[in-house]
Amino acid sequence: PKPALQAIIDLMNKTPKTAKTSNSASAKTLRDASKGFFEVGVALPDRVVRDERLNKIAALQFNRVVCENEMKFESLEPQENRFTFERGDRLVEFAQKNGMSVHGHTLVWHAQTPRWVFQDANGGQASKELVMKRLKNHIDTVMKHYKGKIKTWDVVNEAFTDQGNLRTSSPWYRALGNDLIKIAFTLAREADPDAILIYNDYSMPNDPKRQGIIKAIKEINKEKKIIDGIGYQGHWDLNWPSLAQIQKAIDEAREAGLKLYISELDINTDRSKRNSGRGLEANPEIDPSTLQPITDMNVVLRDRYREIFEIFLKNADVIEAVTVWGLDDAHSWIRGEPLLYDRNQNPKPALQAIIDLMNKTPK
Ligand code: G3I
Repeated sequence: PKPALQAIIDLMNKTPKTAKTSNSASAKTLRDASKGFFEVGVALPDRVVRDERLNKIAALQFNRVVCENEMKFESLEPQENRFTFERGDRLVEFAQKNGMSVHGHTLVWHAQTPRWVFQDANGGQASKELVMKRLKNHIDTVMKHYKGKIKTWDVVNEAFTDQGNLRTSSPWYRALGNDLIKIAFTLAREADPDAILIYNDYSMPNDPKRQGIIKAIKEINKEKKIIDGIGYQGHWDLNWPSLAQIQKAIDEAREAGLKLYISELDINTDRSKRNSGRGLEANPEIDPSTLQPITDMNVVLRDRYREIFEIFLKNADVIEAVTVWGLDDAHSWIRGEPLLYDRNQNPKPALQAIIDLMNKTPK
């Protein structure tokens, strides 16, 4: 390299950055409008990744992507030591082609993990040593395969109960006991020291659950920080959680010194309607008589997404990424109208409302 190259680099390093506020006012997409706040992600099943029309929409709006199912234990290692990376690799290739980061979901979960992991040769309960060996092999192989391509991993997903205690019904708990979380994160830290390691769970606005989890994380991190971040899935309703509950949950992640990922955001309009009180059951402070009947779900959903993103933008200092759990309502794990694109992949008013909000919020 010539002195000219270093001279340019030195000049850039000492020139104050001027946020391109003029351009951001005209940001047309979620990934452009969100620059400077946090990454915006989407969960995709392989069938969407393979669909040129659909994956183009994902690449237009998002700069982060995660496999909805294709990087879970059963998908990557269906038989012992037989790894099937093809669908995960397809997502990574799609992301690299479109300048998107990739999130890894998930190494340890009680669901979608093959039974062989916990069985010994006679089909009985495998020993702790045998399960540890298998878990180490899985984590080593997967994280080394994706090293440099996947920066953030949900190392453990949904290992706690609503009361904030370890889920003793999990086969991982039955095999590894109370050290389950520490074992998994230690193995992951060894496998890829450069990765950001996250504990991910749902119903995190519930105080007992969240506070039990954060207490456990602090305990584990006491010796050496092996848990870098926490994932609040965000499978929420039209009225649950309240904005105060969301803010309180975010504050506690910040106080714990954890990077925060809103990892699986969607708004369950069906559950809300079924409950007639639109999520009232967990929101005693709402007076049912103040709720208007839902005549236009697009409007109600727009307002709900906008008020939630207002809180996210206010807390962009601790929020690393916000990921929606699906591209459109036709590819959601739940019925109803939970996402930012409708069943025919038309963008909803909620999407534009979030973009407009970001454009007018100072970075
Ligand atoms: O792959 C099989 C296919 O071979 C079979 O023909 C088909 C018929 O039943 O099932 C297919 O497996 C389905 C799998 O998704 C892949 O499509 C399972 O039945 C189905 O249960 C599974 O659902 C996934 C669910 O996790 C499993 O618990 C959802 O798509 C996925 O959105 C959901 O995602 C989870 C996160 O990983 C963790 N947080 C909660 C979130 C919602 O449950």
